[in-house]
Amino acid sequence: MRSTKVELWWALCSCLLAAAAQTVENPLPVAALSDLRSPEAVVRAVRQAAPDLFVDLPERLQGWGYPLETYAVPTEDGYVLTMHRIPRGRSAAPNASANEGRPAPPVLLLHGLHCSSELWVVAGPGAAPALILADEGYDVWLGNFRGNHFSTKHKILDPKDPRFWMFSYHEHGLYDVTALIDYVLNATKQKRLFYFGHSMGNTALFVAASMRPEYNEKVRLCVSLSPGVYIEEASFPIILANNYDLIKATFDSLPTYKILQRSDSLITFIYLMCSKDSSFRNTCDALVSTVLGITDLNAIDLYLSRAISSSSGLNIIHFLQEVLSGELRQMDHGAKENLRRYGSPRPPAYQLANVTAPVAIFASEADSVVSAKGISRLVKVLPNVVTTHIIDEKFNHLDFLVNPKEYELIMKHVLKLMKDF
Ligand SMILES: *[C@@H]1O[C@H](CO)[C@@H](O)[C@H](O)[C@H]1NC(C)=O
Ligand SMILES: *[C@@H]1O[C@H](CO)[C@@H](O)[C@H](O)[C@H]1NC(C)=O
Ligand SMILES: *[C@@H]1O[C@H](CO)[C@@H](O)[C@H](O)[C@H]1NC(C)=O
Repeated sequence: MRSTKVELWWALCSCLLAAAAQTVENPLPVAALSDLRSPEAVVRAVRQAAPDLFVDLPERLQGWGYPLETYAVPTEDGYVLTMHRIPRGRSAAPNASANEGRPAPPVLLLHGLHCSSELWVVAGPGAAPALILADEGYDVWLGNFRGNHFSTKHKILDPKDPRFWMFSYHEHGLYDVTALIDYVLNATKQKRLFYFGHSMGNTALFVAASMRPEYNEKVRLCVSLSPGVYIEEASFPIILANNYDLIKATFDSLPTYKILQRSDSLITFIYLMCSKDSSFRNTCDALVSTVLGITDLNAIDLYLSRAISSSSGLNIIHFLQEVLSGELRQMDHGAKENLRRYGSPRPPAYQLANVTAPVAIFASEADSVVSAKGISRLVKVLPNVVTTHIIDEKFNHLDFLVNPKEYELIMKHVLKLMKDF
């Protein structure tokens, strides 16, 4: 079984590599090409050709001169999440002038689906939101939801156990976000923090704040980047939802609900498809701009290889249920099971009216995952939206984290706003 998989992978790789090697201006090292007898050799060759794609988060931050701390955060239901912290900016004084000697205000950032803490930093100093915040004197904490490649621990369950993967943004909100918020507040001895969410990072906060209203008091301001809540009008979710039954049946048939895995092979595959000189570059660009939404395609292989992480397929199923029903509700398990779990044939809706924490929404007309209509619906439902900032430039879903114009279009406004809270 395993060896068949390896061989299939190898066959695909060699085809891609052969095609790529014919057209690229800077082909992979010739020595490596003459010794492509194994998948490992392909990975080695790509490592040499594009070492930057393989640099991990701690090393990358160190290279730029940022400090990094790492914490293990237990959740109520037994998961152990990895949280990264950038306590200050590059070579900044221990107390940045912005804080006038007071401790740096903590900011907690939560990533979107199939991403990780890394996506908040990978665009580099001056562009990456987490690094801009650190350089401005904030104490930056980067959470990782259960199931991404940083957060694969549980007190009892092994990730090979199907039960490990039985979660969606419901559990991300109810258990992960709450544990991460409490951890930061305890460690910094603060009562409130700034929260940044990208896409599902917001959905999870809204789940937490609607079901456990005491968490509203712990959030000074939620900076909501492209919040993925009402996504039934956006192009990509609709395509998926049209195939809901097929997708669900496929996920149900897998040994576990785990989808995607960051690995050297995946990074190698991304390089072969999406590097500057790849002959598959047009396909890659088309896919990436419709599916993920990156406008600036210069470093797309870097962003993809550092962005993609594992999660549970139940997240996609839960999101698609929203697209199909038009309602943000708990997971739909079918009438009979719903009756058993929730006491009603339809799953209960999340009460977004209970999200009383102040929320600042940043969204874009050109977002392929979160539509402008979905945003105006969200603004009507949330009781405490302090600003809604809609970008009318070509700015897509992942641009909120990796676009070179991030400071001009987003962070400049965010930083100004944060001073008022
Ligand atoms: C930094 O903070 C300490 C106390 O936390 C204070 O004594 C010192 O004056 C501060 N330095 C600057 C440059 O603000
Ligand atoms: C809270 O923080 C203190 C030290 O700052 C630590 O000793 C304690 O274990 C923390 N509590 C939790 C629940 O993390
Ligand atoms: C949400 O708000 C409604 C009324 O506004 C209230 O009845 C309900 O108990 C709240 N939910 C929670 C979990 O507090």
